[in-house]
Amino acid sequence: MNPFYITTPIYYINAKPHIGHAYSTMVADAIARAHRLMGEDVYFLTGTDEHGQKVERAAQKAGKAPQQFADEVAAAFRTMCADLNISNSDFIRTTEPRHHRAAQALWERVRASGDIYKGDYEGWYCTVDEVFVPEKQLMDGRCPTCGGPVERLKEESYYFRLSKYQKPLLDLYASRPDFLQPAIRMNEIRTFVEAGLDDLSISRASFQWGISVPGDPAHVMYVWFDALTNYLTALGFGSEDTSRMDRYWPAVTHLMGKEIIRQHALYWPAFLMSAQLPLPQRIIGHGHWMMSGAKMSKSIGNVARYQDYTAAFGVDALRYFVMREMPLGQDANFSDEGVLNRYNADLANDLGNLVSRAMTMIHRYCDGVVPDARPGDTEKPEVALQNAIKQTVEGATHNFERYQISLALQDVWALIGHANRYVVEREPWKLAKQPDRRALLETALYNLADTVRVIAGLIDPVMPDTAARIRRMLGVTPQDWTSLREVQLKPGTRLGPTEPLFPRVEKTVEELRAMSDSQIDSHEGTPAAPAPAEDTRISIDEFMKVELRVAKVLEAEAVPKSKKLLKLKVDVGAEQRTIVAGIAEAYQPEQLVGRTVAIVFNLKPAKLMGIESNGMVLAASVDGGKPILVAFDEPVPPGARVR
Ligand code: MSP
Repeated sequence: MNPFYITTPIYYINAKPHIGHAYSTMVADAIARAHRLMGEDVYFLTGTDEHGQKVERAAQKAGKAPQQFADEVAAAFRTMCADLNISNSDFIRTTEPRHHRAAQALWERVRASGDIYKGDYEGWYCTVDEVFVPEKQLMDGRCPTCGGPVERLKEESYYFRLSKYQKPLLDLYASRPDFLQPAIRMNEIRTFVEAGLDDLSISRASFQWGISVPGDPAHVMYVWFDALTNYLTALGFGSEDTSRMDRYWPAVTHLMGKEIIRQHALYWPAFLMSAQLPLPQRIIGHGHWMMSGAKMSKSIGNVARYQDYTAAFGVDALRYFVMREMPLGQDANFSDEGVLNRYNADLANDLGNLVSRAMTMIHRYCDGVVPDARPGDTEKPEVALQNAIKQTVEGATHNFERYQISLALQDVWALIGHANRYVVEREPWKLAKQPDRRALLETALYNLADTVRVIAGLIDPVMPDTAARIRRMLGVTPQDWTSLREVQLKPGTRLGPTEPLFPRVEKTVEELRAMSDSQIDSHEGTPAAPAPAEDTRISIDEFMKVELRVAKVLEAEAVPKSKKLLKLKVDVGAEQRTIVAGIAEAYQPEQLVGRTVAIVFNLKPAKLMGIESNGMVLAASVDGGKPILVAFDEPVPPGARVR
């Protein structure tokens, strides 16, 4: 079996995990699961990055010893793995003794190559990103990556001769163009290296919380030197047992967000070259989840919690959403509307209906036993479906191999669409009423069941629980991708009991938010990480992006089947719009007509209970109470800006 080693970044522990961390972990999990299905010997590592000044300060602020603080927050990341059905082989913490040993062993090897020397560092440092920032890169005196404040450092430091590796790095990029993917990132890093490399400060002397530099305990290692080594630690580097190192290094794929590519595609290979160790096979930089126009990040405060989405939609639905919505390397927008729409359209409608139709009809017309495909399977629709299956297996597995999970899912959904159209075309319920067409009925149902088997196999890396549930309904066991097409469903297989996969969620986004707000309240009481210490205020420019305007209600009516929603027609000066507002429990439609309200004018349209809403009405929300509309002191014309 081919060895395949996949890693996530190890996460800083100064705040609880959010969707961004959950995303990398879920993607790495899907890649690990796909490679297991390809018949490879997979080792999958994730964990936490626990040293550095930021953690030391966060612990001080929480009134805790750094180790105790680290233990508590690392636990939240471990829980995240369990919550999201992550199949990691190991969970590494950089505070573990095995890691101290490994980082010191790597340091020694780099020093033995003559690449470490002592000097003085004077310059700027960003504690949020744990990076040294050259003066010329500062933006308005702040960190160019996170926009946070930088600190002036002046201390004795050990340096790594990074400058010596400029040429070897450029040779690496030239000889292995797929070392870093997607290609656009490779171009960026190449340009950066071509511009020349300064030596890198790799120790700090002004705080304690880190791994001591061998032979000089007044210094701790720069947290990135320490952190990157984790990928070796987990394989036993620096210990007696080198069997995992021999087996899995360097068959490694490092997955991460694009903001830390420089450390992985530049520092890391340079450290490894210096230590005379083989270089990783591949580095994949994925895009960022954006929310409210900015990267979702704990330092900005615009974060979504994975728990709210798994509670409302289930783990597999969240896994599906993030992997379908974000093409490799690109940014994507995380929104409640997006999750709800994909859930209802792709999962409840497309996949859920297909599986339920196939199972129900086999139970109804064939006593729950998979029938045999009969003559008739050479007819056009059957041939087309068989071809679609073949193409999907090839296309989707190829896309998984290229880390293009979103494209792989598109392939599978095209097959789901095809199979749903096949049902409509064959109309098995009509065939069932015509005894002379029994053979075609059985062929159609066999083909459907077999398509469902293939679909379960292909979605398995992304939605392992759903795949297992479908297999239980079909009465089959898991299959390697190598046999997915050749080994078909056996006629005579007895189906298991049918269960609903993705019941439609009829709630509105507002109703879902109200539910998750109350969950957030109950979660905050549980012991976890202390609140992030960062400043979550926004600038005036950020605020001005939100266009608030005055609107006059022209018409108002209840939305059928919804307790909370009202459909409003409003005059916003230059135009009239429909807005759906979650205020039905507090206001009667007739109370609203003629009333002046404030709205968010430049909100993207969203469909609520099938009605397109173009904007949002502002109301105060008091805990446990009903919404109270914002009103104006004096008459204001519709369309006036509120700021
Ligand atoms: N500790 C370093 C990594 C060291 S690896 C040797 C670190 N930690 S972090 O906690 O800040 O996590 C960063 C990673 O979390 C990103 O690279 C990415 O994988 C993930 N994400 C955090 N926010 C994200 C988004 N908004 N969107 C997508 N992924 C993001 O950096």
